[in-house]
Amino acid sequence: MTQSLYYLTYSSNIAIRQIFSPNCIKDIMEESLVFNPKNSVTGFLCYDSLYFFQYIEGPKETIEHLFDKLKHDKRHRNVKLHMTGDITRRRFHNWSMLPMHIKRFSKDFQPSQNFIPFRPYDWDNGRCHDFIGIFEKFYRTPQAENLATFTEDLTPINMDIKGTLRQHQAFLMVQLVLLTLLLSFLYACFKMDWQQGFSSMLSFAVF
Ligand SMILES: Cc1cc2nc3c(=O)[nH]c(=O)nc-3n(C[C@H](O)[C@H](O)[C@H](O)COP(=O)(O)O)c2cc1C
Repeated sequence: MTQSLYYLTYSSNIAIRQIFSPNCIKDIMEESLVFNPKNSVTGFLCYDSLYFFQYIEGPKETIEHLFDKLKHDKRHRNVKLHMTGDITRRRFHNWSMLPMHIKRFSKDFQPSQNFIPFRPYDWDNGRCHDFIGIFEKFYRTPQAENLATFTEDLTPINMDIKGTLRQHQAFLMVQLVLLTLLLSFLYACFKMDWQQGFSSMLSFAVF
C-alpha cells in the first residue's frame, strides 16, 4: 500500500556555536543526503545566521520520525512547528534537501527579498505558505537546476557578511572614498597648514 504524502515546516534558532561553524550546514547536508534519498524525503533548508526554516515532504511516518530526530538535534533550539498536512503531489522532486542562505536566495531570486529581514519565527501560516510558494516558483526556474553543484562556503555567519557586503557595495565604496579624502585632508593639515590641506584634498577629489 502506498503511504500518503505529507509535508511539515518549522523554524528554529541556530545554536550559537553553529553560527560560526564552517561544518554546520555541511554536516547537516551530509546526513540529509544519506537519509533523505533513501527514504523519499525532499525539501529545502533556508537559513541566515540566526534562524533555520525547513520544509520537508515525504511519506507521513518518515516525516514524523525525522521531525522527532530534528527536535532533539543540539545544532538548533526552540524548534517551532508551523504547519503540517497531507499533499497530493511533491513540490520539490529533485531536491533531496536544498540548503539556501536567505541572502543568496534574495540575490538569485528577487521575490524572496520580501522575506528579509528573515524572521521565520514570527511568521503566521499565511506567510509560511507564501514563502514556500516563492521557493516553488524558484524551483521551476533554470537556475534552480544548477544548485546540485552547490559548493561555496555555507558557514551561516560568513554567508551573512558576504550577503550584506554585496547588498551595500555602492554605499560602502562611497564611504571608503570619503574616508580616504578625510584622511588625506587630516594628513595634509598635520604636515602643512590647513589651507594647503584643503587644496590638497580638493585636488585629490578632482583627480
Ligand atoms: C536544521 C536541521 C535540519 C536537518 N535536516 C535533516 C534532514 O532533512 N534529513 C536528515 O536525515 N537529517 C537532518 N538533520 C539531522 C538530524 O537532526 C539528525 O542528526 C540526523 O538525521 C541523524 O540522526 P541519527 O543519528 O539518529 O540517524 C537536520 C538537522 C538540523 C539541525
